[in-house]
Amino acid sequence: MDAFSIEGPVRISGETAAAGSKNSSLPILAGCLLTDDECIIENVPDLRDIRTMLRLLEMLGRTVERRGGDVVVHAGRVTSTEAPYELVSTMRASISVLGPLLAKEGEARVSFPGGCAIGARPIDLHLKGLAALGAEIEITHGYVHARSPRLKGTTMYLAGSAGSSVLATDNVMMAAALADGVTVIQSAAIEPEVVDACHFLVAMGAKIEGIGTTTLTITGVPRLHGCRYRVIPDRIEAGTLLAAAACTGGDVFVRGADSSHLGIVLDVFGRAGMTVTSSPEGIRLQAAGNVRPVDFETLPYPGYPTDMQAQMMAVLAHAQGTSVITEKIYPERFIHVAELNRMGADIKLEEHTAIVRGVSRLEGAPVMASDLRAGAALVVAALAAEGTSLVRRIYHVDRGYERLEDKLTALGARITRVRDQQ
Ligand code: UD1
Repeated sequence: MDAFSIEGPVRISGETAAAGSKNSSLPILAGCLLTDDECIIENVPDLRDIRTMLRLLEMLGRTVERRGGDVVVHAGRVTSTEAPYELVSTMRASISVLGPLLAKEGEARVSFPGGCAIGARPIDLHLKGLAALGAEIEITHGYVHARSPRLKGTTMYLAGSAGSSVLATDNVMMAAALADGVTVIQSAAIEPEVVDACHFLVAMGAKIEGIGTTTLTITGVPRLHGCRYRVIPDRIEAGTLLAAAACTGGDVFVRGADSSHLGIVLDVFGRAGMTVTSSPEGIRLQAAGNVRPVDFETLPYPGYPTDMQAQMMAVLAHAQGTSVITEKIYPERFIHVAELNRMGADIKLEEHTAIVRGVSRLEGAPVMASDLRAGAALVVAALAAEGTSLVRRIYHVDRGYERLEDKLTALGARITRVRDQQ
């Protein structure tokens, strides 16, 4: 397995460019199954989760091709409607082929995703929404089997105890785009990636009203056509690069990052003492003096994103004072706490809240990435820590970041990819 060997402390400074959004690209690529026509998706990052999705599309019978930053899903028919365990177990977002396959082919068999390192991740809302559209759903032998010769529009409430769901909204909305009649999704997720998926569907000929609001009204059409579509920049990648600058007393400009998607994250950086300047060209973060403590809780958009919780914790680990971070989306998403403590941080967990007492310095140490964003947080902390850190199991980081070590090296990091026994 690969690991990152990181020498710290360094100062992350200079200019870098935002990649295309992973979390937009994944459901949009799945959405290409709604048509037999060619779709060209631009600005798709080249990273492991995307390669997994492209492999899945190929297993379903479609021909895909990467042309630089674009992915071409060639015209053609699906030859299988099954998403097997081998792929779904490595990437939960594979579940987003469920709605498109069901709507277009009348049936889908998708391995039941199960839990993951950040806690239980149910799919009840996906199933509830598709059942409301008239799908017959069976769960057998670890697979979800959904069938319906023709889906029918309806009005549904689509949120659970943690609020709305991004991929459930995508799945149901994609299925509704080809259903008979009108579907109203109440309490739809409004994350920028959901808005992006709506715009993609509209480019394919879907009829959607209320885009960007919690009520989506989708009038089904008999067929969707191919399109060329450009995905939005990755707000979490941009936030991670800004966190690297914030944690190391640096100064970074992320060209192409969209500040309108990062409102509360930029606000937290500001409260932590950073100077953040946004323009249509991108976002600049300048650190000055000490990091100030900040309290925040993760919530559905426009609340603070759970996917930026760990990286901000790494920054606040050496603030001058105590920060309180509450995780409301994935209450168990704190595996990075023990690893940050190995680097000299002083973080205690009280149920779903982390009490982060700022320390004056972090120390390099061998640590292990447990999931994608936890891995990113350990990299951020290691850049600021004194001495050498070995961040193990960075296959998690590779799932969601395109050339992270190259980008950070260009900004002054001393980071190398090494082979590791573990
Ligand atoms: C997406 C993101 C992920 C991010 C998450 C929350 C992608 C590919 N992944 O995941 O990076 O961390 O949004 O912003 O876009 N829930 C249910 N039942 C369901 C579905 C979800 O109870 O059927 C709960 C979850 O346990 C969680 C909350 O709803 O507490 C939000 O999860 P959800 O928005 O569905 O996450 P994903 O779409 O899987």
